[in-house]
Amino acid sequence: MKEYEFLTFDTIDSTNSEAKRLVHKGISSNFVISALEQTEGRGRNGKIWESRIGNLYMSILLDSTTFYDRQSDLSFVTAIALYESVLEVTNSEKTLDITIKWPNDILVNRSKISGILLESMKYNHRHYLIIGIGVNIDFAPSLCNKETIAISDFNIHNILPNDMLRIIMKHFAYYYNLWNIEGFSMIRQLWLDRAFIKGNVITVSDGLTKTSGTFYDIDENGALILKLSSGSLRLFSTGDVFFGSDNG
Ligand code: BTN
Repeated sequence: MKEYEFLTFDTIDSTNSEAKRLVHKGISSNFVISALEQTEGRGRNGKIWESRIGNLYMSILLDSTTFYDRQSDLSFVTAIALYESVLEVTNSEKTLDITIKWPNDILVNRSKISGILLESMKYNHRHYLIIGIGVNIDFAPSLCNKETIAISDFNIHNILPNDMLRIIMKHFAYYYNLWNIEGFSMIRQLWLDRAFIKGNVITVSDGLTKTSGTFYDIDENGALILKLSSGSLRLFSTGDVFFGSDNG
């Protein structure tokens, strides 16, 4: 497998946008782009991602031509890699409750510590996947409706964004390789082992409607299966998950 090449910037609009520009310039795959700060950091669902100096902002650029119909699997691969990275840097803190919230948020004590934004593009008959990753190292940005937390909140001050990047890439390379060899079923199980517990009451919002139920499972494509109070199951391929019921 091709080694990763690393590109770092002091300031950039968005590392995901830079990855797209690189594709247009003919740079193909296995690039990792990072910046100390972003002026137009993007979160999921069109939200702004606060990106001042102190936290990690990075994007992994992959040529996904051979797996473009399975690109969403990488959301789960990356979430597991991030989970392992957060676990590694907070290892001394045995009391922490680290979980993955569907599809790919890492929560520490139920507060969001990182986010993943997957974007794809096609150029010159090839497909590309850009995996944008933000990790709260120095500060916890304020996010609408979500509690956030940073690594520094656990009195850990010796991890620099670039240290975190290297740790993430170590775990990402491992789980990406595992996915290539074993496929999604293995990744699905590893994800479930680290996810918040089945049976928890959650609410899924698609931006317009909110549906409450219990977390039942994820299917063989990674879609969330919610069990409604009627007993029926509902499948979600996208959406934002919140703890608890919206009915009170
Ligand atoms: C989320 O909303 O949870 C996803 C946040 C993803 C933020 C990262 S920071 C690096 C990359 N560049 C961006 O503009 N966004 C992603």
